[in-house]
Amino acid sequence: ALVSLRQLLDHAAENGYGLPAFNVNNLEQIHAIMQAADECDSPVIMQGSAGARKYAGEEFLRHLIAAAVEAYPHIPVVMHQDHGASPSVCVNAIRSGFSSVMMDGSLEEDGKTPSSFEYNVNVTAKVVEMAHAVGVSVEGELGCLGSLESGEGEGEAEDGHGAVGQLSLDQLLTDPEEAAEFVRKTGVDALAIAIGTSHGAYKFTRKPTGDILAIERVKEIHQRIPNTHLVMHGSSSVPQEWLEIIREYGGEMKETYGVPVEEIQQGIKYGVRKVNIDTDIRLAMTGAIRRHLVKNKSEFDPRKFLKDATAAAKDICKARFEAFGSAGQA
Ligand code: G3H
Ligand code: 13P
Ligand code: NA
Ligand code: ZN
Repeated sequence: ALVSLRQLLDHAAENGYGLPAFNVNNLEQIHAIMQAADECDSPVIMQGSAGARKYAGEEFLRHLIAAAVEAYPHIPVVMHQDHGASPSVCVNAIRSGFSSVMMDGSLEEDGKTPSSFEYNVNVTAKVVEMAHAVGVSVEGELGCLGSLESGEGEGEAEDGHGAVGQLSLDQLLTDPEEAAEFVRKTGVDALAIAIGTSHGAYKFTRKPTGDILAIERVKEIHQRIPNTHLVMHGSSSVPQEWLEIIREYGGEMKETYGVPVEEIQQGIKYGVRKVNIDTDIRLAMTGAIRRHLVKNKSEFDPRKFLKDATAAAKDICKARFEAFGSAGQA
């Protein structure tokens, strides 16, 4: 059944687990997530970005997720809009039936100018008022995603690294006191925080330690606002196995590291309830497709390589449901 984000995250908080929130763009990713959830009995958060709506078309994305809800009636599913850049984007998602929206007011509508605290509060509070009137949950974001290694903030463009330029430590790390004021003034159901993660495959040039991935900051924020569900963006682990497979079968990807699952588990102990993952599924599908096509040079039925890609994505999803503790909670 379709449920709101608030319902799932309240249950996760009461029972001390976290939920992966997977980005979806097509049938195969949705199949993979639902098959994995069904096998390990986990609730599901599927989220569509602006890029996903552009790729699939809003109607297709909406109906594909609705099909998942119909095919797996026993699994609670949140249909969440990821990174809304303005209140109007959120209103459109609410109209199309999303049960949760993210108003990302950490940047201005251009997706590259860090916003003022007042701007962020205003746009987010506006969305909360509209969304809550119709039972839809709202995720806000305070602080800018970006790298503590280079000091570069991240813009919203697909390859957004560095797009907003250099940021101060104050901007790259969410302040607990400001977070408390933000939650009080907006009434958000969940709060995305900045702790040194960024979107995409190139997060860290080495396995992250406390100086470049500030998991301790999660604890400080949680101590200040224990009743707010925290969200980690840019939380792909970037599996080295899949990078190697991609390289072995003709791909070119430079050395890179993601957010280790153990660090996310630490975050969950400190109040993280929603963990956003897109890149890991992309890497697994790409690796599986490259391997399939190199090993089966005369194959031309897309179902064959997409089946491998689905299985690879499903393995990632199952591993995350189990590691974050949502397995068995549906
Ligand atoms: O927010 C970032 C997600 O990974 C979505 O990426 O904008 O390429 O769909 P996208
Ligand atoms: P990754 O790129 O680390 O998978 O992050 C996805 C995300 O945060 C979507 O909002
Ligand atoms: Na989101
Ligand atoms: Zn994100």
